[in-house]
Amino acid sequence: MLLITGGAGFIGGNFVHHWFERASSQGAVPEPIVVLDKLTYAGNPYTISEHLNTGRATLIQADIADRDAVRDVLTTHRPRAVIHFAAESHVDRSILGPGEFIHTNMVGTFSLLEEARTYWSELPEGEKAAFRFHHISTDEVFGSLEDSDPPFSETTPYAPNSPYSASKAGSDHLVRAYFHTYGLPVLTTNCSNNYGPYHFPEKLIPLMILNALEDKPLPVYGDGLNIRDWLYVRDHCEAICQVLEKGRLGETYNVGGINEIRNIDVVTTICRKLDTLRPRADGTPYESLITYVKDRPGHDRRYAIDPSKIQREIGWQPAESFESGIDKTVRWFLDNTAWIDTVRSGAYRDWLDQNYAERT
Ligand code: NAD
Ligand code: DAU
Repeated sequence: MLLITGGAGFIGGNFVHHWFERASSQGAVPEPIVVLDKLTYAGNPYTISEHLNTGRATLIQADIADRDAVRDVLTTHRPRAVIHFAAESHVDRSILGPGEFIHTNMVGTFSLLEEARTYWSELPEGEKAAFRFHHISTDEVFGSLEDSDPPFSETTPYAPNSPYSASKAGSDHLVRAYFHTYGLPVLTTNCSNNYGPYHFPEKLIPLMILNALEDKPLPVYGDGLNIRDWLYVRDHCEAICQVLEKGRLGETYNVGGINEIRNIDVVTTICRKLDTLRPRADGTPYESLITYVKDRPGHDRRYAIDPSKIQREIGWQPAESFESGIDKTVRWFLDNTAWIDTVRSGAYRDWLDQNYAERT
């Protein structure tokens, strides 16, 4: 079985769906999953409830920094691989309160590595050789690009600019060190901005869709010209499956959508899609809700991924264009109001008040 940390979050939850659908499309018996998740504001068991209900997936609520809990999960369930998604993931939250980011992303990853190392070192030889620790990281560790710079490659020097990206960079370095020092069989993937179903509505794309549907302002930071490389989440999940199967130990692989788009263009694309699929009652375009607000401190200008290594060595490439992915995403949010209701918790409302009150 696989141990998935953070499997009740956005990408981890999509990975659980992808894992079982992939096995079924290949006619294979699905390998079970154990999800270890603290269930912070971003963790939502409802995202994976269909798999929890069938018993193919099991959810254990625990903090990855709790070594006793991690040890217990490893020795009880005996995974052949750990896929480590659990993190504090939102840059704006890291600016307002970095402490949780250091706790989970650095101390938590350290705890997980330590327990994984002990567990792995005591496995019988065959299982030991097959074991993998797959660390999910981000392109943000490479810092910010100018328009004329080439995209990030695996050899781009680290230059993290936010408490979030610094904490992810720290976790990447720990993972690397556990390979070089102890021989723990690690793989790391650094991916660009994901989007798709089950995306928590603090991030740009789901926030814009849900605000528009409620006729609320669409808050664009700064001049709206920052660029992100958008990756449909299921393309990312497939990349993880393939790197887990074929990746070279100790290597890092950049995963990108080949979709560099300015924020303002992302927002207007969503608006136009909604104008077609769910026109406003008074017929005015959703774009009239766009409001420029105070910029994010230290806002990285541009991210872009050169995915040639994963294409060449693993044979992966994204299946979705931004046009097809955003169409699926907007339709998913229109069709899944029950899921949206489950995330409209007190914590989410408090966050919106805190982050946007001072920007307008
Ligand atoms: P998310 O915030 O949606 O989910 C994070 C999950 O981790 C939640 O279920 C949460 O409950 C859990 N978690 C948080 N702290 C924990 C702890 N101490 N112990 C156990 N569980 C804990 O994040 P996401 O967007 O799904 O990101 C998943 C991973 O991918 C992260 O490592 C993130 O850095 C990385 N990543 C995300 C993106 C993106 O665009 N979302 C891009 C690049 C990399
Ligand atoms: O690049 C990978 C990273 O992508 C991941 O490591 C992070 O976990 C993930 O959250 C994401 O980080 P970003 O900061 O790029 O994503 P976010 O959705 O917060 O913002 C995307 C862009 O949109 C960014 O330039 C800031 C801008 N923005 C965001 C919000 C929430 C706005 O203009 N308005 C907003 O209200």
